[in-house]
Amino acid sequence: MTRPILKIAPSILSADFARLADEVARLESAGADWIHVDVMDGHFVPNLTVGPPIVESLRKVTKLPLDVHLMMTNPDAYLGAFADAGADYLTVHVEACVHLHRTVQAIKERGVKAGVTLNPATSVSTLEDIVGDADLILVMSVNPGFGGQRFIPSALDKIARVRDLLDRTHSAALLEVDGGVKPDNAAPIVEAGADVLVAGSAIFSSADYAQTIKAMREAGQALSGRPAPAPSMSRSR
Ligand code: DX5
Ligand code: ZN
Repeated sequence: MTRPILKIAPSILSADFARLADEVARLESAGADWIHVDVMDGHFVPNLTVGPPIVESLRKVTKLPLDVHLMMTNPDAYLGAFADAGADYLTVHVEACVHLHRTVQAIKERGVKAGVTLNPATSVSTLEDIVGDADLILVMSVNPGFGGQRFIPSALDKIARVRDLLDRTHSAALLEVDGGVKPDNAAPIVEAGADVLVAGSAIFSSADYAQTIKAMREAGQALSGRPAPAPSMSRSR
């Protein structure tokens, strides 16, 4: 079993929201693999962003997968709206879901891939009984709510422990990392086990999106597609 090719998912949180279609077109021609959409409710996180109508509008202007990160309390109430709007992935926070298994099933029943994410202080052990149902695990490497924050160094060890959990359980779920990711730190993040890198400010603050995406891709290139460790060789932590 080899790991999937590294994917780059620019977060439009740092885009010019008045020119979203243009920004997405630029990302597409710059080589983005997915579009990461940060939904914030002003309650689960101290910031407000976008909802289903924006996802619906994005769906009309791109064929790239829409990777929708729900930083919200009670996401269950909005899963149908985001699925109908055209989301390809819906990722919910462990901390926001009392009945996480039910929420994950509800996402999949709508034909959407289900992601599960952890805040920096939430233990990897909370994934053990849901990892078999998830299509994607997202490790937050900043406290969610804002773009442009610094990568929390301890996230590297956490990514490695999630990678180990996925390998031990023979899970095909993708491992995504979000927050403070840039060309400079992409290599150790991929080395720790990431399959998908989210980047907002690193891409949007650069003059040349294609160059930045390429730099991130190259940083991880030698490592993505690496063979997964044989089960007998997995570290157990
Ligand atoms: C943080 C969001 C991230 C954010 C990443 O709450 O979930 O997706 O946009 O932005 P950067 O790459 O600037 O840390
Ligand atoms: Zn995000």
